[in-house]
Amino acid sequence: VTVYVPRDAVALGLGANKVARAIFAGAERRGLDVTIVRTGTRGMLWLEPMVEVGTAEGRVAYGPVTANDVDALLDAGLLQGGEHALRLGNPEEIPFLARQHRLTFHRCGVVDPVSVEDYKAHGGYKGLEAALKTDAEGIVAQVRDSGLRGRGGAGFPAGIKWNTVMLAKAQQKYVICNADEGDSGTFADRIMMEGDPFNLIEGMTIAGVATGATRGYIYCRSEYPQAFETLREAIANGIRAGVLGDNVLGSGKAFHLEVRMGAGAYICGEETSLLESLEGKRAIVRAKPPIPALKGFLGQPTLVNNVMTFTAVPWIMEHGAKAYADYGMGRSLGTLPIQLAGNVKYGGLIEYAFGITLREVIEGFGGGTFSGRPVRAVQVGGPLGAYFPDSLLDTPLDYEKMAAAKGLVGHGGIVVFDDTVDMAAQARFAFEFCATESCGKCTPCRIGATRGVETMDKIIAGVRRQDNLKVVADLCETMTDGSLCAMGGLTPMPVMSAITNFPEDFSGDGSHAM
Ligand code: NAI
Ligand code: SF4
Repeated sequence: VTVYVPRDAVALGLGANKVARAIFAGAERRGLDVTIVRTGTRGMLWLEPMVEVGTAEGRVAYGPVTANDVDALLDAGLLQGGEHALRLGNPEEIPFLARQHRLTFHRCGVVDPVSVEDYKAHGGYKGLEAALKTDAEGIVAQVRDSGLRGRGGAGFPAGIKWNTVMLAKAQQKYVICNADEGDSGTFADRIMMEGDPFNLIEGMTIAGVATGATRGYIYCRSEYPQAFETLREAIANGIRAGVLGDNVLGSGKAFHLEVRMGAGAYICGEETSLLESLEGKRAIVRAKPPIPALKGFLGQPTLVNNVMTFTAVPWIMEHGAKAYADYGMGRSLGTLPIQLAGNVKYGGLIEYAFGITLREVIEGFGGGTFSGRPVRAVQVGGPLGAYFPDSLLDTPLDYEKMAAAKGLVGHGGIVVFDDTVDMAAQARFAFEFCATESCGKCTPCRIGATRGVETMDKIIAGVRRQDNLKVVADLCETMTDGSLCAMGGLTPMPVMSAITNFPEDFSGDGSHAM
């Protein structure tokens, strides 16, 4: 009997290794034959560690399982899918998962992440095979027609970027994956790298074939040791299996891939400082132009995309651009891997077509707050995203609609706060975060963030509040207009959205209303 136990960082943090050991030892004591396969997570994080058993009727899930539950589970017939209070049934029928549009994440939590055979047995490499049957222009046309936009946050059309790199003339071009997932409340890249790294490897290989880049690097944030190790193992297995190297899938085309550990700062995720860091230098933002697509890593044409952008591509190549573009709305096509975190009952990964509203995500999937208190504020798009009040929760997740509401989709992270949140403290935190993480290259960000913290402190202390709110607004305007990159340029978004949408927290006696 095969038992699947996740090795995803969340499951590990909640004792998945102990659970795996207890199942193995318990089965041995009972003389039962069991094979344990370590998978990624399905993304229902409140159910972790979620254990699945392969039965004649398909997989049966149990969760959340602790090592102490294992003996009782084995006695209840765990290996036959027996009844127990923790039995969840077919994992794919759990409403949280069943209602999603899992195009990019369909293998996550299902396969052994480091096995090429398992990846292929679950439909892997069909996208690359399709790509190898067409030419570079054909691949780029599919990516363009799918409507895929950069999932790192900026939403730049992937097809245009791929085309720029494809057309650039150079001896050596590069494909680089930005896996420095630094946004608070985001974890989609991590779940993918730990659960289905070959999807990323396949997507990057397709990008290499399309752009003529024979070398690739994954820049993985240092806070993700499990993802880093999983990628290392997957790449080594990929080289052995002939899906990476000089002769990818016997096509005669070369693609060499390596993973690099990030330098541990938020700004390392900004693409030009990422390139500096990858070159072995301090991560300081470069001025654009030149854009990396023309002059990137070591001065050569470089395709830099996020994990989620690359991992959307194998599905697009296998099923066709139109099938992907059938999901979504307006100019936001396909699916968005939404990460629901903060004060919610059911947090985790939700892959869904663009256009779902924030309220549907928070109430429909998240089940409201964990504390049971009313939702007061929702931050969308990471630490540089806006804070939305209840009145904006019917905004659909769509790049243009979110921008019109003075917010951003970003990397798809949603963090929920209940009515105990203090929005003045949150606004101060945005400045403080910027002051800590600023690379220091430009004045509005380097100095503005620190002046912002000081001014917010005065507002919170009730010192000349109206005058100081004007100073903050002025400072934010300068930072928006004068910063070199999104770090300083977008910090005003959480600050001003907090002031505009929650004015009561900035006008009272310094403490928020509860
Ligand atoms: P950007 O708008 O400057 O660039 C977007 C991408 O398009 C870049 O790769 C750029 O090189 C490329 N590009 C622009 N013009 C091009 C052209 N003509 N041809 C080819 N490529 C072209 O935005 P940026 O600074 O890269 O990203 C900012 C966003 O990052 C923010 O909106 C935020 O949502 C997001 N972000 C994400 C984080 C995460 O952890 N995923 C962390 C912080 C910010
Ligand atoms: Fe560096 Fe901040 Fe300027 Fe970006 S905005 S270049 S992080 S100082």
